[in-house]
Amino acid sequence: MSKPFERIAVVGTGTLGAQIALLASNAGYRVTIFDQRAGAFAEMINRLHTDLQTKGVDPFIPYDRWEKCKNQVQEFTELEAAIKDAELVIEAVPENLELKREVFRELGQKALPEAILATNSSSIPVSNLEENSGRPERCLNLHFYMVLQGMNIADVMGGTKTLPEVIERGKTWVRSLGCIPLTVNKELLGFCFNRIWRAIKREVLYMWANGFVDFRDVDRAWMKFTGREDRPGPFGLMDNVGLDVIYDIEMVYYRDSKDPKDHPPEALKNKIEKGELGVKTGTGFYTYPNPEYLQDDFLSPSG
Ligand SMILES: NC(=O)c1ccc[n+]([C@@H]2O[C@H](COP(=O)([O-])OP(=O)(O)OC[C@H]3O[C@@H](n4cnc5c(N)ncnc54)[C@H](O)[C@@H]3O)[C@@H](O)[C@H]2O)c1
Repeated sequence: MSKPFERIAVVGTGTLGAQIALLASNAGYRVTIFDQRAGAFAEMINRLHTDLQTKGVDPFIPYDRWEKCKNQVQEFTELEAAIKDAELVIEAVPENLELKREVFRELGQKALPEAILATNSSSIPVSNLEENSGRPERCLNLHFYMVLQGMNIADVMGGTKTLPEVIERGKTWVRSLGCIPLTVNKELLGFCFNRIWRAIKREVLYMWANGFVDFRDVDRAWMKFTGREDRPGPFGLMDNVGLDVIYDIEMVYYRDSKDPKDHPPEALKNKIEKGELGVKTGTGFYTYPNPEYLQDDFLSPSG
């Protein structure tokens, strides 16, 4: 597999940044990282390890490679030192427009002039950040999903001035990590797969909130339809993400379209106000740690 770069830097090594750094190390890149909280990377890798093992997931990178890949990643306590030699810098700091603009401004000043700058943002098109970098033609969205859980896909989308060769190198890099690039040819909120997932969420929330169906039946149908009886349906998935996070994401789409049909339902807000946020609070649509959808009779005709 051809490698479009040798040296990669990751800025922000939480849930997603840590996975991207581990993946790049696994693929043989020299990886340098910076997080405003020293030690965040190692802590997150340990947390992901425990979480995936508990869920019985067979991870995208086998567990016996994690330690070596982790040790090859070089952590710096200064942003400048972490990014100064990198040919590609990808940021995965929290989803906050002003914060990301500030990070892009610093990356533009401190990275090599020819370096490509990418954002892993789930909802912010790079066109909202590119001018801050001073090099809009070398900026793009590279949006990874939960790769270690087996979702080895990444959306690739340019901004208003991104050079075609930058998109191509981004796609080649994604492939070299063992991931499938999902190319978005024109700027689209939600990119490729998030946009599909969002259409599903909007419909199932509408059906549930207006009393048309029981949410469990939606999940039963989904599990049968996809043939993945070991994975939750849309409501179980939303519980895993966090219902507060889901609400905020739906509001991003609503603010963009201003279409009342895109507004998340009041019933979802009521659950959030009651502290029913999903897995993280023990109650969402289901109760945890043993949600109904994992029980033997969930998909039984007599259940
Ligand atoms: N969590 C997901 O499922 C998911 C999936 C795809 C994309 N994303 C996107 O990835 C990005 C990161 O999300 P996450 O879930 O990994 O967040 P997270 O909160 O788990 O991690 C963010 C990390 O950034 C660090 N950070 C904060 N400010 C910083 C700064 N100025 N410089 C360097 N580091 C800084 C934090 O210390 C933390 O370790 C977001 O844009 C999000 O939309 C998240």
